[in-house]
Amino acid sequence: MLATGLAVAAVHAAKRGYSWSEIDRLIARGDVKGKLAKEDLPTPALIVELDAFEANVKKMSEHVLGKGRALRPHAKTHKCPEIAMRLIRSGAVGACAAKLSEAEALAAGGVTGLLITTAVVGKNKIERAVAFARKRPETIFSVDNAQNVKDLNDAAGAGKVRLNAAIDLHVGGRTGIVSGAPALALGESIQSMPNLKLAGIQAYAGQASHTVGFEARRRVSREAMAPAVELRQALEQKGIPCPLVTGGSTGTYNIDTDMDGITELQPGSFVFMDIDYNRIGGQSGEVYNDFQNSLFVLTTVVSKPKDEMAIVDGGLKAFSTDRAFPPQWRGGAELPYAFAGDEHGRLSLKGGKQVSVGDRLEFIIPHCDPSVNLYDRLFAVRGEQVEAVWRIAARGLSQ
Ligand SMILES: Cc1ncc(COP(=O)(O)O)c(C=O)c1O
Repeated sequence: MLATGLAVAAVHAAKRGYSWSEIDRLIARGDVKGKLAKEDLPTPALIVELDAFEANVKKMSEHVLGKGRALRPHAKTHKCPEIAMRLIRSGAVGACAAKLSEAEALAAGGVTGLLITTAVVGKNKIERAVAFARKRPETIFSVDNAQNVKDLNDAAGAGKVRLNAAIDLHVGGRTGIVSGAPALALGESIQSMPNLKLAGIQAYAGQASHTVGFEARRRVSREAMAPAVELRQALEQKGIPCPLVTGGSTGTYNIDTDMDGITELQPGSFVFMDIDYNRIGGQSGEVYNDFQNSLFVLTTVVSKPKDEMAIVDGGLKAFSTDRAFPPQWRGGAELPYAFAGDEHGRLSLKGGKQVSVGDRLEFIIPHCDPSVNLYDRLFAVRGEQVEAVWRIAARGLSQ
């Protein structure tokens, strides 16, 4: 213990500008609190502000639980076991994972109560799913196809395990079986399989989450989610228990919790927020600010080729580029950012705001999920201090 303490002190005393490997050593030794500050971080770095993050977690948990629904936040946003565990400690029943490999990484970090929201298709993945269910029997797998139901059932039988299956209902633009007779038949098929147990209905309406304007969003979400509630009723009328109807998002959390029959919410982005969500409009204004922006990319001004131009060290590899709008300096509109290649971003100084080479600037991210997937570590900061470094353990795991 003494040797460890001395080693940390030695690293700390040597310099403030740590390399990634020195930071890794600090992390491996445990507590970074008091030893690492924002100024120490090599940039670009992904940071989460704990005060805002904790307020977001508290607000969502209190809202959803207060409405008598379960909360199973989607971990596709953060891919980070530490965050999933914090959400569970604040009342969540578990976490959603987009893919099996994401679920495996979360489970390795201690996360229980996983719902995999896309179907597990193909022999290799199904075998892995069965192995996973043996370790985590409470896991729920989404299915939207009769052959997949049969394949899962056969593999579960061979693996001597019973899999929980949720009907993935097509309520949005992506996967899922269409509502009505096909969905009901799929539910009956799951029910008839000896090695499967019908857990309920998975229904994610992505088109509702980002509908601009609260009233329009309410209309779109209610219309999209109604077939899920009806399917549950139809199954139960046939004597097939269907305990779960899960769906919803950061944009519709306070719409879906007012709908009878939706038992569980699975929002993801609320922990961080991003520009995309800020633009959807809230109940009382143009900016959606039910949740606070907690996620930023910290950059350094590395060049100032002209009076009216500065270059930061975060470009196409530091932010996802799937949105039509660029990252936004958190200080306001005075420093417009434009992508300037893989490693760089260009700031216009025409608005009069001055920056110098070496300055550190933080940017709000256009779209949080794919941006987080670009980083291995998330620095959890309070004020200027780094309180913790969280592994983005499922980064890159999209299988
Ligand atoms: C299946 C599913 N559920 C829930 C979510 C969470 O949505 P949001 O991040 O908008 O809260 C997503 C996001 O894409 C999703 O794909």
